[in-house]
Amino acid sequence: MERKQQLLERIAAREARVGIVGLGYVGLPLAVAFAQEGFHVLGVDVDATKVAALQRGESYVEDVPAAVLEPLVSAGLLRASTDYAILADADAISICVPTPLRKTKDPDISFIVDSTECIATYMPPGRGQLIVLESTTYPGTTDEIILPRLSRDGLEVGHDFFLAFSPERIDPGRTDYTVRTTPKVIGGTTPDCLELAVALYSTVVDHPVPVSSTATAEMVKLLENTFRAVNIGLVNEVALMCDRLGLSVWEVVGAAATKPYGFMPFYPGPGLGGHCIPIDPHYLSWKLRTLNYTARFIELAAEVNSHMPDYVVGKVGDALNSERKAVNGSRVLVLGVAYKRDVGDVRESPALDVIHLLRERGAEVSYHDPHVPAVRFDGYALTSVELTDAALEEADCVVIVTDHRAFDWERIKQRAHLIVDTRNAIKSNGGAKVVRL
Ligand SMILES: NC(=O)c1ccc[n+]([C@@H]2O[C@H](COP(=O)([O-])OP(=O)(O)OC[C@H]3O[C@@H](n4cnc5c(N)ncnc54)[C@H](O)[C@@H]3O)[C@@H](O)[C@H]2O)c1
Repeated sequence: MERKQQLLERIAAREARVGIVGLGYVGLPLAVAFAQEGFHVLGVDVDATKVAALQRGESYVEDVPAAVLEPLVSAGLLRASTDYAILADADAISICVPTPLRKTKDPDISFIVDSTECIATYMPPGRGQLIVLESTTYPGTTDEIILPRLSRDGLEVGHDFFLAFSPERIDPGRTDYTVRTTPKVIGGTTPDCLELAVALYSTVVDHPVPVSSTATAEMVKLLENTFRAVNIGLVNEVALMCDRLGLSVWEVVGAAATKPYGFMPFYPGPGLGGHCIPIDPHYLSWKLRTLNYTARFIELAAEVNSHMPDYVVGKVGDALNSERKAVNGSRVLVLGVAYKRDVGDVRESPALDVIHLLRERGAEVSYHDPHVPAVRFDGYALTSVELTDAALEEADCVVIVTDHRAFDWERIKQRAHLIVDTRNAIKSNGGAKVVRL
């Protein structure tokens, strides 16, 4: 029987073994989804701490409750290792490794290269493994970077192995859409590669969305994230304009959002954060630079968005000034350091820039975040202070950077004297003087 047919039957019978490389925010929920569907999942991560936690059935990703994970581990459906050799048993492998930027803002695809080379080392030639890249990356990566590394020793794609790209759309903290209910875009290197990848993901996703090539699927993901980065950049600039005009950007966006068609609201904030929106568009602009094209919207949005922490610190300075106080020597309490509501992820969080900039100006900065007990960055090592009435009362200025649902806004407003609110979290009047973005 030809290899494709064999794999299709193993997938349909849930006999296929599914490898997941990179067990982070993307890889772990995917591993759980396949294990819940009855597949034997083989997870590989270079981080021995994560692997040890998984072996004990403990979760380190907020969206994956231990109560869901532990039974899958106990039942032997989900195994984790730091050793790529376990992937020699896999029929399909999804790669979910990081794709950060270098300091120069060029793509760092070294994690993709390293993991591909390890997969190639253990790839059984006769198996017809399906390899799917999920990491966000520039158009061309799958066929230009992964394909040649798997094709060495004369192995042929579509015959000896199959290759596809399927971008992850996970939105940490979101509960209304799950792995299963979020449509998933898939592009294959050959039509058989696509057919197999669609068959595999159809077991855990209700709506697979096949597209004509891996590069198209790569570009789809970058369009989605660039769309967000550019629209956030636009509304952040509108916030700066409203400030000059003496208008409330929140009122303007809120009223515009009543238009039932042709308008989608985006909201201003202290700057972009997380592993995706501040980073992914740079993958696209880098690729275009190699083709002598400047991605103007991306560059402009990045300029506006990266200025926002400075703008927030300027607002803090103005607010303190109105109270006859200087930033230098003032006690500033930052509420929320995670990059967005209800998550504990501080990667690229604008709160870190705000803290750094305030400290540079001589402020005594502390923070409280119910999701982030401690944070280390740029030589700082800070721990979350308790959000007591005294902590709120003693602060010269409270800066709301992340509007976690756990915050009691009414108490914060009653106890604090002066609040800079970058999220429009404080809705009513009374209590502290509130300066909004
Ligand atoms: N986090 C999100 O919300 C999100 C959403 C959509 C897409 N993505 C994309 O998915 C990819 C993964 O992101 P993430 O947030 O899961 O990252 P993450 O850092 O949470 O997880 C990546 C994991 O890969 C491991 N790893 C690194 N190098 C490895 C190697 N050579 N072999 C095996 N494991 C290795 C790391 O130890 C880590 O556990 C990125 O490309 C990201 O842009 C992320």
